[in-house]
Amino acid sequence: MSEPFAAQIASLNLHCFRNFVAGELKFGAAQNLLIGPNGAGKTNLLEAVHLLSTTRSFRGAKDAEMVMSGHSAAKLQCEAGLDRLELRIPSHGRRTAAINGSEVGRVSELMGRMPSVCFSTADMDVVRGEPSDQRRFLDVELSQQRPQYLRWFTVFNSALRQRNALLKAIRGGTEPRSSLPVWNRELAESSSCIRAARIEYLNELSELADRFHQELSLGAESLEIEYLYADESSDADSFVMHLDRCESQDIAAGFTTIGAHRDRVAIRISGREAKSFASQGQQRTAVLAIKLAQVEQWKAAKRVVPILLLDDIFSDLDQERRKRVLAVSGGLGQVVITATDLGSVESALSGGAKVFRVQNGKVEATCGED
Ligand SMILES: Nc1ncnc2c1ncn2[C@@H]1O[C@H](COP(=O)(O)OP(=O)(O)OP(=O)(O)O)[C@@H](O)[C@H]1O
Ligand SMILES: [Mg+2]
Repeated sequence: MSEPFAAQIASLNLHCFRNFVAGELKFGAAQNLLIGPNGAGKTNLLEAVHLLSTTRSFRGAKDAEMVMSGHSAAKLQCEAGLDRLELRIPSHGRRTAAINGSEVGRVSELMGRMPSVCFSTADMDVVRGEPSDQRRFLDVELSQQRPQYLRWFTVFNSALRQRNALLKAIRGGTEPRSSLPVWNRELAESSSCIRAARIEYLNELSELADRFHQELSLGAESLEIEYLYADESSDADSFVMHLDRCESQDIAAGFTTIGAHRDRVAIRISGREAKSFASQGQQRTAVLAIKLAQVEQWKAAKRVVPILLLDDIFSDLDQERRKRVLAVSGGLGQVVITATDLGSVESALSGGAKVFRVQNGKVEATCGED
């Protein structure tokens, strides 16, 4: 089999993006470290790479917030493999994008040109947050990897909305109960497809994540990830039966109480629920292990090595785990890591690592290949 395609960002050019008035950064092909004090602009740089990769801000920022204060538009450009990608974000109005100098019809055409897996503080919600955060994590990842998933997801959400509106109407006496079964079948089929895809994906991910968690904790801890149904339906038919059984309960509640929109993911470190038992550093280790596993899963499932973006990974981790993250991520492909300082973990940098100093919206390479 041919070598997997390794996504690469060779250079990044920013213009009026956040605290970068203008500047260029030439990345190394392997490990890249962005080092600088609080507020320097490290996360901004990672956000820019992620924007060019996915068109979304991992901070959930509005366009106007990303344009440098007092300016009308931000421009982001990068060289990704053979492609030159450009995204223009006005503080008001429509974004535009160009690939290799030609403006494209839709900004979403940038997606897939430079795949990435990103870790930011918000990702801690996969372990610490609510089931809805865990489902969002699965939905975003699966929508990127499988176009079919996005279609089921759209069908499911629309059936759910219509059924919920109907439940309220039945409760209010303006619709008969007999109108409900129409939506049950559509909901059951899309819910089953979504669940099957989530379970398959987590099966692929959990073994890899366990291996990485063991590596990061030097064998001290294991990681288990399990998809948990909110009900006991194994397929679409049994789900329809469950929906019938829950009918009165659903009408009283005014919404659908079972289905893929109620499921959750159990994440256990050495057998205990990570959300309630694990320390901050152990939780961070688990999420990082999941991110490293995502890179490997992309490689196996899609024959693509995405760029790994790791924001502020060192906080909460002890010296040993910091070193392990550096060492393990150094073997995966192109990685961009931010940290306030390297401390004593410099020795764990992989050969060919490039270190950049970020300060007041300016960035310069301090060492590494060029
Ligand atoms: N639209 C904007 N215009 C100008 N400056 C901005 C804009 N948005 C954010 N900033 C500035 O960017 C800086 C924050 O940058 P960033 O979050 O990248 O810091 P950081 O280096 O990641 O810091 P930390 O180590 O604390 O995470 C802040 O000083 C903020 O004021
Ligand atoms: Mg930051």
